[in-house]
Amino acid sequence: MTHVVLITGASSGIGYATALTFVRQGWNVIASARRVEKLAQLEQTVNALPSPHGELLAIAADVQKADDMQNAVQQGVARFGRLDALVANAGIGQRGSIVDSKWEDIETLLRTNIDGMLHSVRAAVPEMRKLGGGHIVIISSIVYNMVSPYAATYAASKAFVSSSAAALRFELESDHIGVTDLLVGRTESEFNERRLGQAGYGEKASGRLPRMSAEQVANAIVRACNGKGGRFTLRLFDRLVVLGNMLFPGLIGRIAMRQYK
Ligand SMILES: NC(=O)c1ccc[n+]([C@@H]2O[C@H](COP(=O)([O-])OP(=O)(O)OC[C@H]3O[C@@H](n4cnc5c(N)ncnc54)[C@H](OP(=O)(O)O)[C@@H]3O)[C@@H](O)[C@H]2O)c1
Repeated sequence: MTHVVLITGASSGIGYATALTFVRQGWNVIASARRVEKLAQLEQTVNALPSPHGELLAIAADVQKADDMQNAVQQGVARFGRLDALVANAGIGQRGSIVDSKWEDIETLLRTNIDGMLHSVRAAVPEMRKLGGGHIVIISSIVYNMVSPYAATYAASKAFVSSSAAALRFELESDHIGVTDLLVGRTESEFNERRLGQAGYGEKASGRLPRMSAEQVANAIVRACNGKGGRFTLRLFDRLVVLGNMLFPGLIGRIAMRQYK
């Protein structure tokens, strides 16, 4: 029996690398995102892999829309017959002050990072319940507990998803659905270039942090789907950031203010 995973935001960065890693390991993958041309590129890459490997079904879907996520799950289950795992990965950044940022940018961030995670989870869980179990990986960030002036909406959106993951772990325990909350640090992807917000904010911070490859994060996601769940960071540096945020919020807030403004 071949396992099946739904990945949101599979058209670039971490989601793209995760789709390839699952397929290489023999899973069938439902790869969703809005940019169909990028999904077509992913399909071509999968088709060129040496056999054996899993299959990939690309589906155009906007995580901001509940119907799109329901449809992605239905199409995936119609094709592969089951759903074992969800990687709620789609997300976007935003920089600028809470007061002066464009409302459209703030709204897009909230609808994508918060509604997107909720719509994905709510669409996927009923199919996992039918199987008697499954796994959800929620992609959060090491800034989830950071005082983040000029990047507050993004950090708060990741606080929301991490808090939801912690609650879901209890809510879905009796369904045998594990929940992983992955606190990701700076990673090579399209994230910075696609970030919303006021020009100039955060340029200093972007270049300095040590970066992981998207493949490193992808490997951790696949491992997580075979585990029991919990909250994880991937590097010592990331653990130190999370600890620093916890112990010295005022100091970190001052540093972040200088970096992000
Ligand atoms: N890169 C980092 O340093 C870093 C650090 C911590 C956490 N993260 C998190 O990692 C996740 C993946 O980001 P990434 O770094 O891989 O960035 P990325 O390369 O920009 O990928 C973001 C993905 O999200 C998708 N997406 C955005 N809005 C969407 C929407 N409305 N509907 C469906 N899909 C949507 C994009 O696809 P389409 O535009 O084609 O729809 C794209 O596939 C995000 O949740 C991000 O917050 C990243």
